[in-house]
Amino acid sequence: MPKIVTVIGLGYLGATHAVAMAEFGHTVIGIEPDESKLRAFREKKLPFYEPGLELALSKAVDSGKLTFQSAHSETSRNAHAHFICVGTPQSESSYAANTTYIYASGSELAKWMSPESIVVGKSTVPVGTALRLKTEMSESAGFDVDLIWNPEFLREGNALEDSLRPDRVVLGGGTAKGIATLKEIYAPIVKAGTPFVEMDLQTAELVKTAANSFLATKISFINAMAEIAEVSGADTVKLAEAIGLDERIGKHFLKTGIGFGGGCFPKDIRAFISRAEELGVGDALDFLRAVDAVNLRRRQRVVDLLNKEFGTIAEKKIFVLGASFKPNSDDLRDSPAIAVATKLRELGANVFIHDPKAGEQVSILFPELTVVDNLAEGFSMANAVVLATEWDEYKQIDPEVSGTLMAQKVVVDGRNVLDVERWRNAGWKIYALGRSVANEVGGL
Ligand code: UGA
Repeated sequence: MPKIVTVIGLGYLGATHAVAMAEFGHTVIGIEPDESKLRAFREKKLPFYEPGLELALSKAVDSGKLTFQSAHSETSRNAHAHFICVGTPQSESSYAANTTYIYASGSELAKWMSPESIVVGKSTVPVGTALRLKTEMSESAGFDVDLIWNPEFLREGNALEDSLRPDRVVLGGGTAKGIATLKEIYAPIVKAGTPFVEMDLQTAELVKTAANSFLATKISFINAMAEIAEVSGADTVKLAEAIGLDERIGKHFLKTGIGFGGGCFPKDIRAFISRAEELGVGDALDFLRAVDAVNLRRRQRVVDLLNKEFGTIAEKKIFVLGASFKPNSDDLRDSPAIAVATKLRELGANVFIHDPKAGEQVSILFPELTVVDNLAEGFSMANAVVLATEWDEYKQIDPEVSGTLMAQKVVVDGRNVLDVERWRNAGWKIYALGRSVANEVGGL
C-alpha cells in the first residue's frame, strides 16, 4: 500500500532517498529550506551531479509522486513517516559533528506530525543523539514519538542503486507497529530478501560510524604500507592484491593513493573521536587519529615528490587531473585533489585543474586555481601532471599523444590507475604512490 512520506533535507542523502521512495510508489514531499535548491528540484534539475539520479527525479516529479516544499504544512499531518536526512557537518571550531540541524528539524517536525506517524532518522549522528531527539520531540509533541534510527550506507556515484537495492537495512529502536510501517514502506527491499538487522537506537547510530571508520581504516592501512613500500622497494598494489585474496581481509578499500576525502569519512572519524572523548573513552579511538594523519600525509606526499623532482615547485606549471573527491561525483568537500592543488598553489606553483563535472564549481570556490576544460591544453602548458581523481577519461589518456605536448614528461599517479610500463615506454617519468615498480627504491 503506497504511503505518504516527508523527506526532510535534500542533500545527497535526502534527494536520493526522496527519489527512491517515489520509485517505490509512495507520495513524497521533499522539504528543503534553501530556495535555490528548491527551485532546481521543482525544475527537475539536481543541484549536484549523481549518475542516473536526475532522470529518476524527473520521472518522479512528472508522475506527481514527488513534490517539494520549503517547510512543513498541513500535508505533513497526513504523512505516515518522516525521514530526517539533514546534514551533520564538522563543527567549525572542533572535531565534533554539528547536530544543530537534527534537533532543529525534530523540533519543527514535532509541531506537525500526527501521533500515528513514525520518524525515521537517516543522518549520520554521534551515538546518543537519537535518544535525546526522541525525548525532546516527545516532550514538545505531547505524545511518545515513535523514532527509528535507520542509517544510510549509500555511496556517492552509486547513490540511487544503493538506496533502491541496499546490501542491508539497519533499524534501531521503534515500536513493533512503527517497524512494521517502515517495512511496508521498504516493501521492495524486503521482497528482495535483503537482511534487516534490528537493534536499539544507540547501536544503530554506532553501526554507521563504525562502518565508515572501518573503511577509512582499511584505506589508511594500505596507505601506511605505501609509506613503508616507498622506502623499502615494495609495491602496495601487488601487496593489496595478495592480502585481499584472504577472505578475512577482502580486496575492497585497499586502493593506495592520495587517500580518502568527501563529506563523510574525514568528518565522521573526527566526530567519532570527539564523541568518544565526551564519553570518557577517548583512548578507544586513538587509532583513528593515526588513520586521519596517514590520510593527510598522503596529500603532502605528492607535494614533496614534486618539490624534490624540481628542486622547488615555485613557478612550475602543474596540471592536476580531477577535482572531485572521487569519480562520478562533483562533490568537492574535503577533496584530496583540491587539497593537493591548493597546497601546490600556496607554494607558488601555477596550478591548472581539470574535472569532467566539477570545473565550474572549482572556479567559483577556488579562484586561485585555473580551470582547464580541455585536456590537451592542460598538457601543453604543464611541467608536470598529477592524476588526483580516477575518472575513466584519465585512464584512457594516451601517453604517446599527450607526451608530445610536453617539454618535460613527469606524471604523479595519485590513484594507481595508469599503466606504468606504457607511460614509461612513452618517455614519461612516472611516480606512482606506494609503488617501487614505478619509483627508484628509496628515491622518492
Ligand atoms: C562512504 C561510504 O562508502 C558509504 O557506505 C557511506 O554511506 C557514505 O560514505 C556516507 O557516510 O554517507 P562515499 O563517501 O560516497 O561513501 O565514498 P567512498 O566510495 O566510500 O569513497 C570515500 C573516499 O575514499 C574517496 O575519496 C575514495 O577515493 C577513497 N578511497 C576509497 C580510497 O582512497 N581507496 C579505496 O580503496 C577506496
